[in-house]
Order: sequence, then C-alpha cells, then structure tokens
Amino acid sequence: MTDTAPPLAGVIGFPIGHSRSPVLHGYWLKRYEIGGFYVPISLAPADFTDGIRGLQKLGFKGVNVTIPHKVSALNIADTVSDRAALIGAVNTLTFRADGTIHGDNTDGYGFIENMRQYAPDWNAGSGPALVIGAGGAARAVVSALLNAGVPELRLTNRTRQRADLLAEHFGARVQVVDWNRASDAVDGVMTIVNTTSLGMEGQPELHMNLDAAPGDATVCDIVYTPLHTPFLAMAQERGLCCVDGLGMLLHQGVPGFETWFGPRPEVDDGLRQAVLSA
Ligand code: ATR
Repeated sequence: MTDTAPPLAGVIGFPIGHSRSPVLHGYWLKRYEIGGFYVPISLAPADFTDGIRGLQKLGFKGVNVTIPHKVSALNIADTVSDRAALIGAVNTLTFRADGTIHGDNTDGYGFIENMRQYAPDWNAGSGPALVIGAGGAARAVVSALLNAGVPELRLTNRTRQRADLLAEHFGARVQVVDWNRASDAVDGVMTIVNTTSLGMEGQPELHMNLDAAPGDATVCDIVYTPLHTPFLAMAQERGLCCVDGLGMLLHQGVPGFETWFGPRPEVDDGLRQAVLSA
C-alpha cells in the first residue's frame, strides 16, 4: 500500500504568533489545490534540535525558520546553499528523503525579486547603494545587492561596530558611513534600503534627509507594518520610486513552497491582499 499522507511544512519561531507565513503558504496551497498543510510552530531555543528532529520523523518536507533560530538552523543543516553560507543564517530547511537536512536563505532573493516586481526599471548596477542597518536583515540585503552588481555599497548603522563587522565580512565594495552623517551618504546613490526596525508600528521613525538623492533613485523599506512607512512617504514626496517591504516576505516564501509542495507559486495582488487582511 502506498502512503498518501498529505505534504506537511511549517514555520518555526519563538514567538510565532506574528508570522504571516501560514497565511502566505495557506493561500498558495488553496490556489494550487494541494491537499497539504503549513503550520506555525512555537519552539523555544533550547528545544531547537529535538524539535527539528521530531518534525523530520513526523514526515515534514521542511520548515521556514524565523527569529531566533536562523543561526541554529545553519548549524543543524548537513548542506547549505552558497547564499546562506555567505549571509551566515538559514531561513529555509528542507528534509531530504535520504535523511539529510539542506539549509537555504531566501531573504536576499525575496528582496531582489520584490525590487524587480515593483520597480521594474531598477538596475542594481546603475550606481552606489545605501543600506541602513546592520542586523540580520541587512546581511541578506547587502549580500543580495552585491551579488546583483552594485558597484559600491554604503552602510550605516546606529551601532557603528556592527556595520564595521559586516563591511569586513563582505569586502571592499562596502564602506561604512557614520550614523550621524547618513543623510550625506544619500548623495549619488541609486538604491536606498531601510533594513532597521525604525518606522515599524510602535517604533520611532527613521529620520533621514533624502534631498541629495538623485531623482531616479529607488527607495525600499523592508518594514511592512505599516505598509507605507513615514520613510517611504518622505521618499514619495521627493518623487522617488518606492518599494514597500511586503513583497520581500512574499517572494522569500517561493523557493520553499516549490521544493516542498511542487508548483512554483506566483506573487500577485490577490496574495498581497490575503496577507494584508489576515
Ligand atoms: P533584523 O534581523 O530584523 O535585522 P536585528 O538583527 O535586531 O534585526 O537588527 C535591527 C536593526 O535595527 C539594527 O541595525 C539596529 O541597530 P543597532 O545595531 O544599533 O541595534 C536597528 N535599530 C533598531 N532600533 C533602532 C533605533 N531605535 N535606532 C536606530 N537603529 C535601530
């Protein structure tokens, strides 16, 4: 008798209640008429290894991994993609039929695909980029921008030391700009990305003067709660091309869904609405 158990996947985090990934994957499962399940799983850091082994035993195809497990996920993987190794974190684990675990990081991919979809004229190679922040999200964005061909990347962060470490990791194309001189660094940049939590609901705004930015620069805020952050509103007022952060979340889910469930899912307005109204 063949085993016809439905395919299972999920997202693990701690806490997990805020994650929109179950809505995202649930939308695709319905749309592609797949009788599988994608569930949110709360897993404390001390239980990470046992939890992952348990999910593997239960027949899960894989899981997305969010805060605070992205480095543990890198460590538990038997093999990792080049991009995950470069970023130093894993957000997608796949449990292979031979019992091994593969780790990938699709955050940078999600960032680039979001830019391509919502700023179709954007070209990473057209000029320098400015990345604001030096946390986990910044690592993925910096890595993706360098890979996409930015000639020079200016990096600024409240805690300078974190920016210095990141610059050291990614090499000579990355130059650190002091936090209190960040507005000057806008001069001549074609891509500006906020990767900090500034502007998120309940957080202070990101204050940066965009007057010196070229008129054809593209600005992305990876914060998506709210969708239109004060920073993006300022960029819009300045007439710059603006990309919100929701598409990065949606696109980062594509590779995992395809690996675990089969179809390569589409990111469209219906999906955006479903995730926004959840
Ligand atoms: P994530 O994985 O989402 O990137 P993180 O690693 O905690 O989260 O990074 C958060 C980023 O937001 C950091 O760049 C942080 O700056 P510090 O390195 O100085 O902490 C930035 N950030 C958070 N709150 C901030 C604030 N009030 N002012 C300036 N930067 C802030």
